[in-house]
Amino acid sequence: MTDRVEEQNPTQQVDTASKAFEQEFERFVRFTSDQNGLVGLTLEDAVAEDRALAELRTRHLGKKSALAATKKLIGRVAPEERASFGQLVQSAEANVLTSLDTAAQTLGEFIARQRSARESIDVTLPGRRPRHGHRHPITLLRERIEDIFVSLGYAIEDGREIETDFYNFTALNIPDNHPARGHADTFYTTDGFALRSQTSTVQIHAMQRRGVPVRMIAPGRVFRRDTPDPTHNPMFYQVEGLCVDKGITMAHLKGTVGEFLRRMFGPDTVTRFRPSYFPFTEPSAEFDFSCFKCKGSGCRICKNSGWIELGGSGMVHPDVLRTVGVDPQQYSGFAFGLGIDRMVALMYTLDDIRLLFENDVRFLGQFE
Ligand code: FA5
Repeated sequence: MTDRVEEQNPTQQVDTASKAFEQEFERFVRFTSDQNGLVGLTLEDAVAEDRALAELRTRHLGKKSALAATKKLIGRVAPEERASFGQLVQSAEANVLTSLDTAAQTLGEFIARQRSARESIDVTLPGRRPRHGHRHPITLLRERIEDIFVSLGYAIEDGREIETDFYNFTALNIPDNHPARGHADTFYTTDGFALRSQTSTVQIHAMQRRGVPVRMIAPGRVFRRDTPDPTHNPMFYQVEGLCVDKGITMAHLKGTVGEFLRRMFGPDTVTRFRPSYFPFTEPSAEFDFSCFKCKGSGCRICKNSGWIELGGSGMVHPDVLRTVGVDPQQYSGFAFGLGIDRMVALMYTLDDIRLLFENDVRFLGQFE
């Protein structure tokens, strides 16, 4: 058994250790000659090879390696052979070291090059254009309305979308047997609350909270059990207006609504009031304005009538004032309300208000 290491003489042991290294190092030789060894190598391959190379270094140069064992033999060989044996061990170790270092350097440089190539930015590539959002057409119109009323000295009130029976009906003088209270007209929650069916509820909250005199508008969402069609949605937006003070008359209502519409649609806009009925106003009127497109001569937008219907209004009913503790002998006021969705549809000549809630970005993108 001459190849058993412990039976070999020291020189043979050095030889065996060198050969064992060379055998294992064979797969790394391609990294020591020229750069061809790197052809087809990915970054991941190179990192794996580099790790294997480091393990090889530990195995063949570490404290427990065969080469380290031969170093311990130097002191044991005959004195006259000691110098030449020492040199033999040293040169064997130097060969291993050179091979390992050369391969490690090639791999290390390759890995660094690959990493920096991956991380670098190609400034010639076209950038990704960020998509800008914009406000919904209903929001755009709501803000225009708010701006006009704020400049007329009105405050903006935020109302509740879920209401009690009191605020939605009773306080607004809507009697128990009124059809608007029925399940066919209003959405009720299981706890007996109702989704507000008009922003007029905010009149009550505003007077209770702010007292009188008061001047406010309240934009917001309302809900009705209306079947969706081109002019109806079960959820839509309204703006409520309320002005209560001493000596307020119908003339103030007409003046305010007229001024609002002139600022909205131009100085030539004419407003007209038609008698109507709302339980919470007396007298009540619906208001129309001269068509902003044809100026009254008749067109598709105004259905050839020259007028566009916009909303309801009237003098706040004395019972409503009494409900919130305001003396109708001293104070009077007007209120009005209009639907924003239908106004948006008019202004942008939309045939169908349902488009506003379909969330189709191709449609909404036109209002940027
Ligand atoms: C009211 O809701 C009253 N609160 C208005 C009012 C306020 C009168 C203050 C007096 C004093 P009306 O039910 O007519 O009124 O609705 C007002 C507006 O809401 C309508 O002119 C219309 O533009 C809009 N509207 C009503 N139902 C729908 C619906 N289903 N979808 C979209 N818009 C609607």
